[in-house]
Amino acid sequence: MDIKLPSGFHLVKRLGEGGQAFVVLAEDTRERTNSAGSPDLVAIKCYSLAYLSEERKQKRVKREIRNLRLLDHPHIIGFRDVLLSETHLCLVLNYASGGALFDVLCAKECLDEKLARWFFQQLILAVDYTHARGITNRDVKPENILLQPLPEGRPPFVLLCDFGLSRFEESGLISRMEGTFGYVAPEQYLGQVRNVEQAKVSEVYSCGVCLFQMLFGLTRWPSGPSADASRRPGQDFFKTIGTWLNSEPKKIELPKTRELSDECVAFLNKLLQPNPKNRITMKEIWDDAWFKEELPPNAENLNAELLARQEQRNTAHGPQNDRDIDALIQIGTRKKGAKLSFISTVLLSCCGQCQERS
Ligand SMILES: Nc1ncnc2c1ncn2[C@@H]1O[C@H](COP(=O)(O)OP(=O)(O)OP(=O)(O)O)[C@@H](O)[C@H]1O
Ligand SMILES: [Mg+2]
Repeated sequence: MDIKLPSGFHLVKRLGEGGQAFVVLAEDTRERTNSAGSPDLVAIKCYSLAYLSEERKQKRVKREIRNLRLLDHPHIIGFRDVLLSETHLCLVLNYASGGALFDVLCAKECLDEKLARWFFQQLILAVDYTHARGITNRDVKPENILLQPLPEGRPPFVLLCDFGLSRFEESGLISRMEGTFGYVAPEQYLGQVRNVEQAKVSEVYSCGVCLFQMLFGLTRWPSGPSADASRRPGQDFFKTIGTWLNSEPKKIELPKTRELSDECVAFLNKLLQPNPKNRITMKEIWDDAWFKEELPPNAENLNAELLARQEQRNTAHGPQNDRDIDALIQIGTRKKGAKLSFISTVLLSCCGQCQERS
């Protein structure tokens, strides 16, 4: 694998890959913190320094780091550090050893209603908390929902990850559609999500798609207005979306492949309403009969308590502040720049020699 990690980290294996970065499992040998005396395992998200040479991309990664540092929640992947290797900017994260929900759905196809609810409740806890902190993830999907196995055969913990597209409310208007086709809400296809408040409403829809996939499998979605979304949408698609966006509350057609409780069907209907005005709000989710069932007693107050505690102390966490991170990125990209200019000098001088010879 073409990566040299920062000193103190030993590469174990590659965990995953997305559009802009790849993630590896590594041993953190800097401190022997774990109770067994063995090195801690961490996940490291690596952005190549070449990728960061463009200012727009630097901005995106800085936003990801900044937002991760603001979030401190039991259902959001824990952020530890930002480091520079010779070739990459490395975001050190807690390791979730149960893989992504996506892998579980690939292997099992779908989950029983109880387990789906348990995962969904935790996802909502995480998303509701990010919203309260003024942040939207904007890429909620099973690949970005990680699992942490729990002892004694208890069902795993859910951890939301990948804040690569996330926005903070002070960052102003959102200028273009970002996210993943099939998961974004209909209004996003038409560029109607212009600020973080609207992004929060559309994120409820993405959570709904995740619940749909937990209950019916990955392949049966899209089935709503995003029916063509797995392919590049054509004119007809946008026309359909346009009509759905102005529609009255709709009955969402669900696959007939399994029986679900009436409460669950009703809840899916509320989450997947294409017209955002008819969609259930985050506040209403907490009062829904299906959602509330078997909700752990402390869950309803968890976010309020965390937010109150976090407001009292310094909000962002991690060893560095924004300025340190800026400086690190500057050093990294300059280092890369220095290397590139060294290479081009060598190449130029070679070319010069060739020309002299000819
Ligand atoms: N902390 C972690 N623990 C375990 N696995 C992880 C962790 N973080 C990421 N992964 C794995 O790596 C994959 C890619 O990570 P992530 O989604 O953060 O990057 P990405 O999709 O490349 O991001 P971007 O969309 O910003 O380019 C995830 O889907 C998951 O399988
Ligand atoms: Mg991802």
